[in-house]
Parts: sequence; C-alpha cells; structure tokens
Amino acid sequence: MPGFKRIEKIREILIRRNIDALLIFDEKNIYYFTGFPWGFRLLIPLDGECVLFVHAVNYEAAKEMAENVRIDLIRVGERADEKVLREIGGYRFKSIGFDRASASEYIKIKDRLKDTIFKHLEDDIWSLRKVKDSDELALISRAAELTKRGMMKAIEVARPGLKGWEVAAEIEYEMRRLGSSGVAFDTIVCSGPESAFPHGGLGEREIRWGDFIVIDVGAKYRGYCADMTRTLVAGKPSEKQERLYEVVREAQRLAINQVRAGVKAKDVDGAARKYIGEKGYGEYFVHGLGHGLGLDIHEPPAISPTGEEELCYGNVITIEPGIYIPKFGGIRIEDTILVLEEKAEKLTYLDLDENIPTSN
Ligand code: GLY
Ligand code: MN
Repeated sequence: MPGFKRIEKIREILIRRNIDALLIFDEKNIYYFTGFPWGFRLLIPLDGECVLFVHAVNYEAAKEMAENVRIDLIRVGERADEKVLREIGGYRFKSIGFDRASASEYIKIKDRLKDTIFKHLEDDIWSLRKVKDSDELALISRAAELTKRGMMKAIEVARPGLKGWEVAAEIEYEMRRLGSSGVAFDTIVCSGPESAFPHGGLGEREIRWGDFIVIDVGAKYRGYCADMTRTLVAGKPSEKQERLYEVVREAQRLAINQVRAGVKAKDVDGAARKYIGEKGYGEYFVHGLGHGLGLDIHEPPAISPTGEEELCYGNVITIEPGIYIPKFGGIRIEDTILVLEEKAEKLTYLDLDENIPTSN
C-alpha cells in the first residue's frame, strides 16, 4: 500500500538536513512507510536497504505484509533494544534522525552511540503525513463512509430510556458489520447536562425527553480514522435549543467556507469563533475548531487560535465548533473535511444536515 514514494520523500529530507539515517520508534510512522502495523523499529538509511525490526510474534505477518524493507527478527528471549542498538552501531552513522522516544530510550541510545549526533525529525515526518496521498484518501473516505453509517444508525435508534452506552453499542456494531476495523476513539453518546462535557461523561446516563444528545463517532479502516459529531434533541426542540443549534451550524458553515489551500488554520478557527462570540456564546466554545486526522485521530494541523500554518491541498481536518453550557447541555457539529485548492470537500456529508435532527 505505501509504495516506495514515501521513503524517497523522507530520504530527500535526510539529504537536505545532512543526516545519514532515520530511526523510527512510533508504530504509526512505521506503518506509514511499510504498511506493517506492528513493527518494533524501522531503520531508513540514506543509502541501502531499510530494515524493519520485528518481534517473533509478528514475524510471519511481517513477511506477508511489510513493503520496502528487509525484515530483521527479534527472537523470543532476545533483548529487542539491545539488538537494535548493536546493529545500528555497526553502521557507524555520523548522524541519526529519530521521530520520538521515551526519555529512557533516548538516554540509552545517546549513551551507547556516543559519537553519533541525534536529530529530532518528528515534524519532518508530519510534513509528509499531513498531506494525504491518493491511497490514503481512499482509505479515509471509506472510514468516513462507515462513520456516516454508524451515525445514521445512531439517529435511528437513540431515544429516551436508552443509556449512552446502549446507543454506542448499536453504532459500533453497525460500523463493524459493514467492515470497520475498529473505532478511531471511544464512541461518545452523552445527553442532557452531560452533553456539556465535550468529551462526554461515563455514558451511563439515560436519555430523557428534551435532552440534547451529542453523538461523536469515528470508524477506522485499515488504520485510517474518520470523525463526525451530530447533536440531536430527544423529542421537540425548545426555542433555546433551536437557537443554539443554529449558531453552531452557521459557525461550522462559515468556517468550512474559509477552507482552501493557503488559508491559515487560525483564520478558519477565527471565522467560527468570531461568529459564536458575536452571538454571545464565546465563553462556551472551549476547544479549538478542529484537528488533522489520518492514522492518528489527532494530527497536525491544529485548527486553533494559535494555528499559524497554512492549510494545503491534501490535508484532512475536522471542523467541529461547539457550545457547552454547564448544567444545561452542549451542541457540537463535526465533519471530516478534505482540503482542496479552492474549497473544502465534506467527507462525512449527511442529508439531514440542514435541520436539527430529533430522536423519538
Ligand atoms: N472526536 C473526538 C475528538 O476529536 O476528540
Ligand atoms: Mn474530532
């Protein structure tokens, strides 16, 4: 799936930075370059073969799934970190880039390879990962489609008397049944005053008539995530609920209208934040407007008031304004969005988007 292009691109970065090799610790980064989800370490030298270190438990799977690498087996009983250090030491690299390591891993490797300079290259890897290629876009689109199907199931089944986790179970069953490989994060179904907590409560509260119900769902497909939130009302919405919902919906529309290549992330955030502020609810919008997503559910670019970076073609981001009024309830509307040259494309579009959906 990844092909060789991603390795060529990271090697171009190594050349520009005058670094001899890249040592990757993070499983998602290893997957990105090899298509193998359970690698221990990946070595990408500037020249020569890439080496994927795998534990015995994953060896047979790696032989079938991993691309672009020679596989190096870590036998049962062998010290994995010792083996990697020993083998890397043999190359006598002057400099090694790495993505991320725990403090103890970093201290150990610096201690053992005393003559080698280490450079933190996590942001360089993100510079590749945050621009999705066509293979990745196909997988994210599939995850988005599965997420929509989960949301449609939620809208069908959510009703007074059910607890949040009962609705979540229906959503997850539907997505799994249709081919999702899992969830991108713990499904959130929270109602009434708990809907004012952006990350939900315990999910144990029973939905009651008149509640807001915030449903935040993400399917995963071959490692790739999607993310979508809708807010329903159990029964007939009150005037206040309709007003709040309309503010969030319009804030999302204004922000999505800003999305295109070249716009700063903070200006997209600002479009929604300004509108919500003008309507008098600014203090209740307590998070950034959105985030990038892909193999991780939260990736760069951050769409927030401090987001200085410019969006570019191939970014996949969420746009998710919300208003959360303590003791009353919350509303969030979230879509997964593909950034194109001149506009945004909603990957989680649902027909009912124009009106406040109700459950009964
Ligand atoms: N939808 C989960 C999150 O963005 O935190
Ligand atoms: Mn999100």
